[in-house]
Amino acid sequence: MIVLGIETSCDETSVAIYDEDKGLLINKIYSQIKLHAKYGGVVPELAARDHIKKLLPLINEALIETNLTKDAIDGIAYTAGPGMLGCLLIGASVAKALAFAWNKTALAINHMEGHLLSPIIENNEIKLPFIALLVSGGHTQLIEVKALGDYHLLGETLDDAVGEAFDKVGKLLGLEYPAGATISKLAKNGDPTKIDLPRPMLKHPGLDFSFSGLKTAVLHYVTKKQNILTDTEKADLLASFQQAVIETLVAKSKKALKQTNFKTLVVAGGVSANLELRKQLGEMTQKLGAQVFFADLQLCTDNAGMIAFAGFLRLKAEQDANLSILVKSKWPVTDLAKIN
Ligand code: KG4
Ligand code: ZN
Repeated sequence: MIVLGIETSCDETSVAIYDEDKGLLINKIYSQIKLHAKYGGVVPELAARDHIKKLLPLINEALIETNLTKDAIDGIAYTAGPGMLGCLLIGASVAKALAFAWNKTALAINHMEGHLLSPIIENNEIKLPFIALLVSGGHTQLIEVKALGDYHLLGETLDDAVGEAFDKVGKLLGLEYPAGATISKLAKNGDPTKIDLPRPMLKHPGLDFSFSGLKTAVLHYVTKKQNILTDTEKADLLASFQQAVIETLVAKSKKALKQTNFKTLVVAGGVSANLELRKQLGEMTQKLGAQVFFADLQLCTDNAGMIAFAGFLRLKAEQDANLSILVKSKWPVTDLAKIN
């Protein structure tokens, strides 16, 4: 079985092909970062217009580069939400039009399920049940996964998502959007113990998160310095901020593992590309006698590979989506049907 995946929920136009026997054959990602850089964030209308320009050529290239024709494709999986409506509509319209013209099944895939399943794409050692820590630009969630598609929310952020906190702190310091990867690089030269920042919700019972207070604490520090920071101060501030975020994510993940008595943690979403986070989660799980899994780095941020893979699993389980499904800006993974 071969599934074509399409991802257009935000500022990446991506097309991938997943083959049941050979794995991910291709995962083409066109990033619009440069287009939005001068606005300090993604401009939805510009993003949607750019998806229109890039999507069909990318599909064409993906087929040519894999030496496949439309006849080899069994299903077309597209991101139907959550995400920016105008952007989602482009992917959904193209996917459904192609499915109709080629007489294939169109599959409406949840973007966060795509992230959640991404570590499994190239690793068949991951066994159920597991705890999923989803950390992206729009979400921070701990999810209990007893079966694929059967997701139970244990905790989530009450305000900013963790990637959003990285991006907002980056903006405060004049870094380009998205700032997560740059912050993790600059933080390497800093002292994570130098600046005392809060660890929000750490002493709070339950598994929810909060990152807006931490961002405000960074703002206060920068304001106190009248916006003039030496390179060393900047590196120390970013290292201290990153450490505060990581400590919170590690502590809550540990709590979720202990509470459920699960032995496996799966971490996905753009922020899971953070190497210091990977290291500290690795240390925590090792001490607990548990295991942690991440996706390959290029599968952490938005990509169609994860959408093609989720589509493959659902098509294989004969859960072809209703062709009339609408795109949704909000669509909790907990609303999904179990994959049999
Ligand atoms: O999953 P993703 O590509 O898009 C969403 O679904 O939101 O995540 C993007 C987020 C951005 O906020 C970006 O700053 C963050 O992931 N990010 C990182 C790193 N790489 C990307 N955050 C921390 N450290 C990184 N290395
Ligand atoms: Zn994403």
